[in-house]
Amino acid sequence: LSQENQQSLSAYEWLTKLYHHLLRYTKDGKEGYKYFKDRGIDDETIDAFQLGFAPNVKDFTAKFLEKKGFHQQILVKSGLLSLQQDNTVTDRFRGRVIFPIRNHLGKTVAFGGRTIHNQEPKYLNSSESELFQKGRTLYNFDLAKRHIRKTNEAVLFEGYMDVISAYQADVKNVVATLGTALTESQAKLLKRYVDTVIICYDADRAGIEATYKAANILQDAGCSVKIANLQNGNDPDSFIQEKGADAFRNEVIEASDTFITFYMRYVKKDFNLSIEGDRIQYIEKVLRKLATIDSSVERELYLKELSTEYNLTMETLLNEISKYRQEIG
Ligand code: UTP
Ligand code: MN
Ligand code: MN
Ligand code: MN
Ligand code: MN
Repeated sequence: LSQENQQSLSAYEWLTKLYHHLLRYTKDGKEGYKYFKDRGIDDETIDAFQLGFAPNVKDFTAKFLEKKGFHQQILVKSGLLSLQQDNTVTDRFRGRVIFPIRNHLGKTVAFGGRTIHNQEPKYLNSSESELFQKGRTLYNFDLAKRHIRKTNEAVLFEGYMDVISAYQADVKNVVATLGTALTESQAKLLKRYVDTVIICYDADRAGIEATYKAANILQDAGCSVKIANLQNGNDPDSFIQEKGADAFRNEVIEASDTFITFYMRYVKKDFNLSIEGDRIQYIEKVLRKLATIDSSVERELYLKELSTEYNLTMETLLNEISKYRQEIG
């Protein structure tokens, strides 16, 4: 590790402790503490994730780290301070609750900061650095790792609060992509630890689009993919807070769909199934996907569904799919 990166890790370690201490035990951090309480997060969880609060003072962090002897230049590079036009520095995180983002060794390498007063952006993250690349990081991977190994499944969320609520609800094999699209590198990381990944993104338009993309990337990385059963506008955190831990486990995670079932529903949106031409195209598209399934038993189950739903004989469907399977080779 370069000297600079060591300094940067050290700064993040100091600040993780400081922000957490402020939130947990001081008047200055009280509004942050209250924010998490209002969202149903208890002390034990606040401690497990070292959640914190950065005061709304423009140079609180800069001053604190300066006294500790850190060089400004390094702190700017680490994404903790912002350089102003007049060459002075200000704190990047002000008046926000803080989510430390840890690397796989459990060291904080970045922060996510959420506004508690409806400011923009809702979440502000540390800028990328040598130690923190969004596309290579999965939030909570270090804590989730042993649970992921034990269950041979990982649950993939969009955001911080989803991970934290699930963890508190005792679903601990959980990680998040931090809002961005899942990358190949993140998929490979997961594949090293599990066979099955359950995607549990927000049940809104953006979440469904992202689910489709992530599912394909995970499948390409060799994972078996399931899609959690979250409905109408919920996100995992809001579901858990509303309906509780048991409902989340039973109705969302355990009731996951296979990727194919999700796929059949998802691609429907591109077709008008009351028109025959569209219907044929839709069925062919689905058959192409089904052709990629290796298990003939599994294939047949989906073919039966299609056969019933679109009033086609199994013979026709089996003929058609065997053509596609030959194409794949
Ligand atoms: P969401 O908008 O779904 O956030 O983005 P959320 O976690 O449900 O937010 P709450 O519940 O209102 O607090 C999902 C994730 O995308 C990233 C964050 O990691 C967030 O948790 N994100 C979102 C950003 O980085 N910046 C943003 O402005 C918004
Ligand atoms: Mn979202
Ligand atoms: Mn969300
Ligand atoms: Mn949201
Ligand atoms: Mn949310």
